[in-house]
Amino acid sequence: MDDKSTKPVTVPSIRAAKAEGRKLTMITAYDANNAKIADESGVDMILVGDSVGMVVQGHSTSLPVTLGEMIYHTKCVVRGVKRALVVADLPFLSYQVSPQQAVRSAGKLLKAGAGAVKLEGGVRMLPAVQACLAADIPVMGHIGLTPQSVHQLGGFKVQRNVDALLDDAKTLELAGVFAMVIEAIPKTLGQKLTTNVNIPTIGIGAGPYCDGQVLVWHDLLGLFDAFRPKFVKRYADLGTAAREAIRAYCTEVRSGQFPAAEHSFD
Ligand code: KIV
Repeated sequence: MDDKSTKPVTVPSIRAAKAEGRKLTMITAYDANNAKIADESGVDMILVGDSVGMVVQGHSTSLPVTLGEMIYHTKCVVRGVKRALVVADLPFLSYQVSPQQAVRSAGKLLKAGAGAVKLEGGVRMLPAVQACLAADIPVMGHIGLTPQSVHQLGGFKVQRNVDALLDDAKTLELAGVFAMVIEAIPKTLGQKLTTNVNIPTIGIGAGPYCDGQVLVWHDLLGLFDAFRPKFVKRYADLGTAAREAIRAYCTEVRSGQFPAAEHSFD
């Protein structure tokens, strides 16, 4: 990496990426070791996502995830990161009750080491967003399919309400978020939202015209089989590699091949 690429990624540098025509990359991580791998791979942002509820804790939604758990995972992730901007998710019911609650919860994530927080919702979350920004807490928006609203939406479905989404995107931009995730919308709508705002859009299932992309660690690396949305591209099949490695280990232990002399102390 050259000098420029080893400089820490900041909120202003993410905001500036759009005007500079730099595509942004983001991946989730939940622990120090994986965060270090992501950071060393040159990703711009690491999201401590509340997807931890599904891909780590084994729940079917992100709703059970608590603020305490997000603080714990944020602390783990920041220990592994030198360069990328760490963005931490505000989990369900840690910001919806009141703007004051949003500031307190977001502040705890910043104290845990995050450089910014992400929260779900557009127009309806404006007071929470404004309150965090007034406390100098950088906020990333998240519109389209907002997984914390899974019951209200009737499932993890593609969102197509053009007017409502444009309204959400413009409202968040005017409020002062530095970027926004847009999830599970048709690609033409992803393009429309992207051209209508002056801050970066980070797509997940929102097509190729967004200013950046985000994927969940386990999806990108082939470590999660419970379901596989159309928008996921597997760049590796580590699930299969891990199963094969662990099977080989079991076989060698049972046959007495492991541990060998080089793994034993004299
Ligand atoms: O929690 C998460 O991982 C997310 C991504 C899907 C954007 O919010």
